[in-house]
Amino acid sequence: MHPPIDTDDLDSALDQAAEWLWNARRVAVLTGAGVSAESGLATFRGAGGLWEGHRIEDVATPSAFRRNPTLVWRFYNARRAALRTAQPNPGHRALVALEDRFAREPSDGQFTLITQNVDGLHQAAGSRRVLELHGSLRRIRCTGCAYKADRGYEELTELPHCETCGELLRPDVVWFEEMLPAETWNEAAKATAGCQCFLVVGTSAVVYPAAGLIDTARDAGACVIEINPEATFASRRGGLGLRGPSGVILPQLVQRLSNHG
Ligand code: OAD
Repeated sequence: MHPPIDTDDLDSALDQAAEWLWNARRVAVLTGAGVSAESGLATFRGAGGLWEGHRIEDVATPSAFRRNPTLVWRFYNARRAALRTAQPNPGHRALVALEDRFAREPSDGQFTLITQNVDGLHQAAGSRRVLELHGSLRRIRCTGCAYKADRGYEELTELPHCETCGELLRPDVVWFEEMLPAETWNEAAKATAGCQCFLVVGTSAVVYPAAGLIDTARDAGACVIEINPEATFASRRGGLGLRGPSGVILPQLVQRLSNHG
């Protein structure tokens, strides 16, 4: 394991990160809301991170939905509406370029993009192998029967009900106090434990179990690179920090990697 590398010199940090990527065959990436900030989507924590005075934890739990489903649906309908016009940004596209590079490595190459985001922008950019740990805003499901569907970002009623059984519909996202989808989580944990380089992009790294993947990668001996304008809980746990917005830093990193060697 490498100790925390505290560098204000972005240029040499980019060189170091490109070197690590150059030497890796298996790469995994964990993304959070910050990667979509430059697409105009609000992050959850920090300035502007509150939603009409509610903490995300207060509108994203099963008990909040039981208490006030209209409020919870207003939150999710607003997020779904924002996605009708949001476009992937250069950070999303740089991750597609990394996938193109590592997924076609002749021997043993692998690229796994693990996201906490529910906005679908990685797929919209062209990423192929995306593990959505927290579900997707495109999908809705019934609280009473097995109905589940990809409804895109079509406008739903304020409080949508199931046409089959009449029960309330809910977004197919993971709320606090709920389990992550087991198969997706297992794949994410496996890819993380087996990678040689792990990128942590645009996440405050406070929500578990997703944030625990950073420890998994580090404990397995992977080089950890964090891309974030701010230091986070992830930064304290070792690795190399590339300080800046991912829409700027990721394309620079991809460029460095192409120039390497
Ligand atoms: P947060 O809002 O907690 O953190 C966003 C991070 O993005 C912060 O560390 C910012 O510094 C960083 N950031 C801001 N602008 C950026 C930019 N242009 N480029 C790169 N980074 C930038 O969001 P998450 O860590 O994704 O869960 O939150 C994790 C989970 O908490 C979410 O998936 C959601 C939320 O509650 C559920 O809904 C279950």
